[in-house]
Amino acid sequence: ITPKYVLGIETSCDETAVAIVSSDKEIIAHKILSQIEEHAVYGGVVPEIAARSHITHLDSLVENCLSSADLALQDMNAIAATTGPGLIGGLMVGMMTAKAMAQSSGLPFIAVNHLAAHALTPRLTDPDGSKTAFPYLMLLMSGGHCQILEVLDVDDFKRLGTTLDDATGEAFDKTAKLLGLGYPGGPQVEQAALKGDKTRFPLPQPMKGKAGFDFSFSGLKTAVRREAEKCVAEHGYLREIEINDLCACFQDTMAKCLMDRLGRAMKDYTSRHSKGGRRLIIAGGVAANTYLRNALESLACEHNFTLSAPPLALCTDNGAMIAWAGMERFLKTPEINEINQPARPRWP
Ligand code: KG4
Ligand code: ZN
Repeated sequence: ITPKYVLGIETSCDETAVAIVSSDKEIIAHKILSQIEEHAVYGGVVPEIAARSHITHLDSLVENCLSSADLALQDMNAIAATTGPGLIGGLMVGMMTAKAMAQSSGLPFIAVNHLAAHALTPRLTDPDGSKTAFPYLMLLMSGGHCQILEVLDVDDFKRLGTTLDDATGEAFDKTAKLLGLGYPGGPQVEQAALKGDKTRFPLPQPMKGKAGFDFSFSGLKTAVRREAEKCVAEHGYLREIEINDLCACFQDTMAKCLMDRLGRAMKDYTSRHSKGGRRLIIAGGVAANTYLRNALESLACEHNFTLSAPPLALCTDNGAMIAWAGMERFLKTPEINEINQPARPRWP
């Protein structure tokens, strides 16, 4: 049987990304352009700049993907794009480009939910599908979200918990900013934490032991700010040693918060899926954090869950995750066509 191909476009935030994946789980082409440098001077993503930059680069990324794969648009079986949630300007650019390509070549258009794509990506890199068979428990941690999901099927997700305030990545980014580290903050905090003492500052663990599976991180970030201010009052400025120690304490407390909430969710999940395999999958940009991965690995082990995570490059936003989510939906429903779907800045 000849494989099917889906081209996917991701423009919901500050990455312009295009990829082609096959139904054999092969990433045939994969192009990504990060706008980080364009936004870094502002300390965060500026929506208008992001949308304009997507317009400038998207067409050539699409052409690049097709030519590097030695394929034509007509060789695709469907065109997928992120239609939400995300920044509306960027979503419009990616979606309209994809719809135009689909219309002009008679292909179906598939509207992909960015979060669903993160949640399905681990299946792309699981060759025989055994580690990522439905159902599985999922911790999705990105710049805009922190959710515990039960993934029941390609298009069936049950949200068990979410953040009441900041997302995981947002907490990393804001902490980095208040400590004078650059954007995006996650990797910088992780690096600084390697040199720090995680026992030095006592930080609160929001939601600890509370019923349900929701998260809260804004109190943690505020506590870091207060400790930083005390250090500045004492030494006149924030010294590198304090920055490192604060990063280590923040990251360690973050790990404990995640473990507390996820531990509860694992117990709940196990009670409802007594027969099924216990699989935990982590995804989203923050899943690239090695310290958090290790903490979650030991938690999974304790609860007899297997832990898997996509490779680091597929944890942060990329085109392959969108193409793959499109592929999963195309394989399930070959007559799919969502050309009339709008872009949705908010799409739980
Ligand atoms: O999934 P993603 O690429 O984009 C969104 O959909 O939001 O996640 C980006 C987020 C940023 O907040 C970034 O700081 C965070 O993921 N991040 C990390 C690490 N690498 C990226 N956070 C902690 N540790 C990391 N190593
Ligand atoms: Zn994302």
